[in-house]
Amino acid sequence: MAAVASLCLNMAAHDRYIAIATDHVSLIYRVGDNGRLYQSYLGPRLTHESDYAGLPGGIEAYLTHGMEDYFEPALHVEHPDGNHSTELKYVSHQVSAAADGSTCTAITLADDQYPTTVRLLLNAYAAQDVIVAHTEIVNADKRPVTLHKYASSLLSMNRSRYFLTEYSGDWASEVNMSESELQFGKKVLDTKLGSRASMFMPSFFQLSLDGHSSETQGDVLVGTLAWTGNYRFTFEVDQNGLLRLISGINPYFSAYQLKAGETFTTPDFIFTYSTQGRGQASRNLHSWARQYRLKNGSGDRMTLLNNWEATFFDFDEQKLVGLMDDAVRLGVDMFLLDDGWFGNKYPRSSDHQGLGDWQETASKLPHKVGYLCEQAAKKGIKFGIWIEPEMVNPKSELYEKHKDWVIHLPNRKEYYFRNQMVLDLSNPQVQDHVFGVVDRLMTAYPQIAFFKWDCNSPITNIFSPYLKDKQSHLYVDYVRGLYKVLERIRAKYPDLPMMLCSGGGGRIDYEALRYFTEFWPSDNTDPVERLYIQYGFSSVYPAKAQCAHVTTWNKEASIKFRVDVASMGKLGFDIKCSDLKDDEIKFCREAIGNYNRLKPVILDGDMYRLVSPYEGNHASTMMVSGGKDRAVVFAFDVNPRYREHLLPVKLQGLDSNRQYRVAEINRIGGWPLGCDGKTYSGEYLMTVGLPLFGTTRLTSHVLELVAM
Ligand code: GLA
Repeated sequence: MAAVASLCLNMAAHDRYIAIATDHVSLIYRVGDNGRLYQSYLGPRLTHESDYAGLPGGIEAYLTHGMEDYFEPALHVEHPDGNHSTELKYVSHQVSAAADGSTCTAITLADDQYPTTVRLLLNAYAAQDVIVAHTEIVNADKRPVTLHKYASSLLSMNRSRYFLTEYSGDWASEVNMSESELQFGKKVLDTKLGSRASMFMPSFFQLSLDGHSSETQGDVLVGTLAWTGNYRFTFEVDQNGLLRLISGINPYFSAYQLKAGETFTTPDFIFTYSTQGRGQASRNLHSWARQYRLKNGSGDRMTLLNNWEATFFDFDEQKLVGLMDDAVRLGVDMFLLDDGWFGNKYPRSSDHQGLGDWQETASKLPHKVGYLCEQAAKKGIKFGIWIEPEMVNPKSELYEKHKDWVIHLPNRKEYYFRNQMVLDLSNPQVQDHVFGVVDRLMTAYPQIAFFKWDCNSPITNIFSPYLKDKQSHLYVDYVRGLYKVLERIRAKYPDLPMMLCSGGGGRIDYEALRYFTEFWPSDNTDPVERLYIQYGFSSVYPAKAQCAHVTTWNKEASIKFRVDVASMGKLGFDIKCSDLKDDEIKFCREAIGNYNRLKPVILDGDMYRLVSPYEGNHASTMMVSGGKDRAVVFAFDVNPRYREHLLPVKLQGLDSNRQYRVAEINRIGGWPLGCDGKTYSGEYLMTVGLPLFGTTRLTSHVLELVAM
């Protein structure tokens, strides 16, 4: 410990500040004369080191329980002697180039009374203005310690006002955006749902600083926790008007014992800071995700036809093969077989039974999945399959054989969410089982080209038969167990595309998306609702990751309106051709052709949210290719008013000096927009704009722009 003190005392003047920087953002720490670490600055990039000395002292960088600061701590450790206080002092820091190309700053802090060490790890992604923060808490004691709080990050900001946008909702009504001003005291966003942690709110937020921000103006910090379980964000405004933001695993019922020599690694808190409003913040995260985080972020995505809405549980081989013909007729890449294909003692004829018994139901699929794979191959399309491997219906053989694998309270009546229970992924045997669901299918049918991985229940009946006297580890160890399984799957099947589903958007975060190529945002596929839902998720997740399917929801909306909305994401269909007229099928086929041609712009381009559906009657979004030579614009009249004052839509992200030829695509009947076939400068399009909105309800337009 003496070494720690001397290092601090001998520190050269230029070491007193530790600056983490991206192209446009600085986060600056200061080592105080007392040896403790403070955060002095977070905001637009400061380029002159000589200015650092003028920065305010700041609050402690990783506030600990038991010391003189009275606000919410980031860390709370119970030491073996019963002392709950920790005082962290700076030991050293290193800056290195991380394997992924980011710059990693690792700051080591230690307590000189107890052998507890904390490493703050901050990876800066310069071009995207994204910083990824996590911590490692090391117990070098010979005895265990208990962690009561273990945040991934604490950030502080000293601004005049703070406006928080949160995204609350529920099944089929996900991510409703609402904004409120933070005042003295705490605002907590958290979840205790376990496996389906994000059912009422996903783990991200937007924080506007000094005043409201818009899509193009204002300082805004957008943050998200990469953890597929209970999370907590605490926003606390103190008596001086300073905001402290603590992000991490929810400590609720999660005291974690760290054995001698063990390290606790917290999940990543990912944030970006934009001085040009929310649009730029989202583009930063989209581009970061595609390049560094999303599974196969730079790769292609398949269009598909899913049978869920078309059949629900009511299908047999013949019906499925008929739907494959529909997939071919529409021109999609893949057929996806959904729930209902498994279980024999208790066939999965409804959501009341069969979950956990992953053998094909003989009466429905006498020739098994292999036959379906062959049929798909014969028709020139790929085959994908639905699983929900973490779950079990009490009415199943799995439950009968392995009740000890089920999270349940041994001495209480069971209660169910969607008639099912959650398997205990803290148990390595259960991890083997879950891995085996994928592995056995892939071994038997290597032609399977896609998995939809569902998760339809939060953790209920919270008790792990495996963890015995360590029950407060369950929420954390469940998630770690899940990651172990996903690691094994990725080690063996690195390129297999997988969709993350949780009855819709009940479970989405950037740690899960290391393993999943895409996610299902909502079971609500009404295109009007989807305008809001896709808009909300686009705050943090790129179009490439958001599955959007055309279904029969909201038949009042034309097939064109439905296809246009779904074409803003990863396009799919969940509909039978018999639900469509011939000209509608022809339209879908052409629209899929357009989509395939424009995928590089829609899925990999920069997204500009031009008109928010929340503003009322219309919505518009555009995507622009990296080289600004191509763009796609989507415009929707949702609920226009009679004699409404309609303004042209000003485009964004184009090159002012280039000329763009505009073509209206995805047309079915009627007249094209006046701009169809015309050429305009980028300057005109961004300054004057195009009249894209009209006064007929549920009308939509898609424009393709090509630079001349
Ligand atoms: C969840 C999914 C749906 C569908 C059903 C099947 O609700 O979100 O898309 O797969 O399960 O039971």
